[in-house]
Amino acid sequence: MNYRRIKGTQDILPDKTAIWQHVEQTIRQCMDIYNYREIRTPVFEQTEVFARGIGQLTDIVSKEMYTFQDKGKKSLTLKPEMTAPVMRACLENNLVNQSAVNKLYYLSPLFRQENPQAGRLRQFHQFGAEAIGINSAHLDTEIIILAMFVYQTLGLSDLNLKINSVGDPESREKYKISLKKYFKPLLDKYCKNCNSRYESNPLRILDCKNKTCRELNQNAPILLDYLSPASLENFEMVKTLLKDNNTTYEIEPYLVRGLDYYTDTVFEITSKNLGSQDAICGGGRYDLLAEQFGGAHTPAVGFASGIERLLMVMEAQSLIKEEDRSLDVYLCLLGEKVSLQGMNWLQKLRVSGIRADRDYQNRSVKAQMRDANRQKAKLVLLLGENELEKRCFTVKDMSEGSQTEISFDKIITFLQEKINE
Ligand code: HAM
Repeated sequence: MNYRRIKGTQDILPDKTAIWQHVEQTIRQCMDIYNYREIRTPVFEQTEVFARGIGQLTDIVSKEMYTFQDKGKKSLTLKPEMTAPVMRACLENNLVNQSAVNKLYYLSPLFRQENPQAGRLRQFHQFGAEAIGINSAHLDTEIIILAMFVYQTLGLSDLNLKINSVGDPESREKYKISLKKYFKPLLDKYCKNCNSRYESNPLRILDCKNKTCRELNQNAPILLDYLSPASLENFEMVKTLLKDNNTTYEIEPYLVRGLDYYTDTVFEITSKNLGSQDAICGGGRYDLLAEQFGGAHTPAVGFASGIERLLMVMEAQSLIKEEDRSLDVYLCLLGEKVSLQGMNWLQKLRVSGIRADRDYQNRSVKAQMRDANRQKAKLVLLLGENELEKRCFTVKDMSEGSQTEISFDKIITFLQEKINE
């Protein structure tokens, strides 16, 4: 074979799709309970949506986007995240004027040209929710609790919720100045990456995974000390509401997140079951994004969670059961003449809601029975020339080993009763 999948992408094969479907279904049920409705956006957008939305100097925009020119020389980008496209869609379709708050959720593939490693892919999937239209600590809390609710419903435990507030842009500018003052005499001790971030985006230094940098960061000034009274009040309210809802959290004063659109509340949920890429979920408030897109002031808050990472945690906690897949009926056709009737009968069974299959190779009874066993068929319908003459099937119950003859006109009702036993 001459072709391989692209580095950092995955084939999700049939023995894995069952757990994906279970997770997706659970997410949909949870979102429905919280009254969030699904939104789907295109796989690619005008590059500006991300460049403006996420921020030119972020890793995602500066290094990781799959950007290309179409035939009309327009710069397009495969979506690396959902928040910017969801906001674009809300503004473009005027959803923001139709109700005070739009509560939306999504499940989507995303694309980032990162160095692939465990839990870090180039095509990955997220589910997430965005509450767009209102600035309220109650919505910040609801979004956090909703993410936790999905994880709890799926059985995940030992998750760590870290929260912080990044305030408004003015407070952050003041904070950046004092951060730079702190970093400057230590720059030769920081890694190359941090040195290059010093001028462009000093806040990102706080996010460095390098051990020495992390130690050096421990004495850096704290953003919470620079917040405006309004931001502080909002943060206090979120903490109170989380406590009231028995949601345990840690304040992580250096949590700044890797996307530029955040204001006030930010959070991450991590799991010890993941390696160095330990964040299963990230989110926060982004009150200024709509204005950056040329829209009216539209406060919003949301979260997104990696589905591959979620599955890694489920795997580590032995929450993934093997799929118990079986057939209701295996149609065993004996002889050329009978084989012609096969398609008709199979279709009759299937439209009656019976999960049925057959052999397509005119194999021997023995080979067909072996196949029926391999496919865990509950019942086998034998149709040979004998049966055809008598206008009946020989029905074999595979678990009991018993055998009966059932006439053509009674077979569907018989099977339906038998399968529902
Ligand atoms: P993010 O932190 O970039 O935030 O991504 C959220 C989650 O997506 C991560 O915690 C991780 O589980 C997963 N993820 C990110 N990159 C990869 C990757 N390369 N491979 C596998 N999983 C990955 C956002 O995307 C924001 N839009 C979240 C948000 C929503 N903020 C407000 N609303």
